Amino acid sequence: MNKTIIVTGGAGFIGANFVLAWVKQGLGKVVNLDKLTYAGNLENLLEIEHNPQHFFVHGDIGDQALLAELLAEHKPYAIVNFAAESHVDRSIHGPEDFIQTNVVGTFHLLEAVRAYWTSLSEAHRKQFRFLHVSTDEVYGSLGKNDAAFTENHTYAPNSPYSASKAASDHLVRAYHHTYGLPTLTTNCSNNYGPHHFPEKLIPLVIHNALSELPLPIYGTGHQIRDWLYVEDHCAAIRRVLEAGNVGEVYNIGGWNEKPNIEVVKTLCRILDIKKPRADGKSYADQIAFVEDRLGHDQRYAIDATKIAKELGWKPKETFESGIEKTVSWYLEHQDWVANVTSGDYRHWVAKNYAERGEEMA
Ligand code: NAD
Ligand code: DAU
Repeated sequence: MNKTIIVTGGAGFIGANFVLAWVKQGLGKVVNLDKLTYAGNLENLLEIEHNPQHFFVHGDIGDQALLAELLAEHKPYAIVNFAAESHVDRSIHGPEDFIQTNVVGTFHLLEAVRAYWTSLSEAHRKQFRFLHVSTDEVYGSLGKNDAAFTENHTYAPNSPYSASKAASDHLVRAYHHTYGLPTLTTNCSNNYGPHHFPEKLIPLVIHNALSELPLPIYGTGHQIRDWLYVEDHCAAIRRVLEAGNVGEVYNIGGWNEKPNIEVVKTLCRILDIKKPRADGKSYADQIAFVEDRLGHDQRYAIDATKIAKELGWKPKETFESGIEKTVSWYLEHQDWVANVTSGDYRHWVAKNYAERGEEMA
């Protein structure tokens, strides 16, 4: 066994940030398995296109034969599983892909990895890790005064997306408990930063603001999310991989709870300074309250005490520093935005917002 890892979903938002950092830091070879769905984008990996430490494979985590080949050929000491359908609104419109990839796909991945792990020498079996990247949404929704989610919080997923992620977490847990597979699970709060696909709140608002389109806020905008800069999430995953206790779960979060309306107003304020509107008005004038998300979770908040105490991880960025960097990245990467918002993206946006009473074309 060598220093190779297999990353799944490494052409998506968080996966690409993880792979870029891993390769740039010289931490070893990465075999990057990605299906390249609408959310997967090889442009995210241009910086390491010719780096011999990055080996991209176009494929599905549900393809057990392909996985068996990759495992036998590359002999990784770890798998980091990012691959998933990740957008709550899409899961409401069409849950099937979420069940296929997040549940059935994770099952096939676990089966292939179990067969490989069983074939290893005892020393290599001990060293091996399967790290499953999950979400705080599996814990359901918090009331205003409830304590933040700890690792012992009851699972109560509310959307088809979070239910499919919860199912995958349970499979990972079962493969550890039943077969002894050395798993680690991380449950993280909302990420933001470079390469975030503009169907999600923060990049969508930046893109719409600059495109003179409405900034759609679901319902009252008082729902709360707990925001973490993506590079901090990636650092936390590296730390869990390095030092986490096998079979355990680690919650990851930035202690940054914000109502959606505040996030959007902050983005408008930063854009007003960095890229003022031609008419001198504020981007906040573009805010539009639209019909709410079905079953919209009111509040998420992560208690990240365990990972801080046991593994010494804490975020580097505050929300203020992270959001500033993020807006700058989008202003400097308008070509990237133009490429990902052409084609199919337009169909999704038209469908999702037309039924909320907003024209987004
Ligand atoms: P994303 O949608 O940007 O990227 C997902 C990637 O997975 C894409 O590159 C896509 O092509 C790939 N993929 C999808 N189905 C696949 C399959 N069957 N086989 C191989 N590859 C496949 O998602 P993201 O926001 O980067 O999230 C990554 C992971 O982190 C997900 O598991 C998600 O549940 C979890 N997560 C996300 C957040 C967040 O705020 N974005 C927070 C916590 C946890
Ligand atoms: O909490 C972690 C989760 O965060 C991840 O598991 C998911 O993969 C990720 O997509 C994200 O889910 P959310 O549903 O919280 O993210 P989204 O950016 O879609 O929405 C954030 C909040 O903003 C949510 O309360 C809905 C609201 N919203 C979203 C969109 C797209 C709006 O008000 N208007 C919008 O147009």
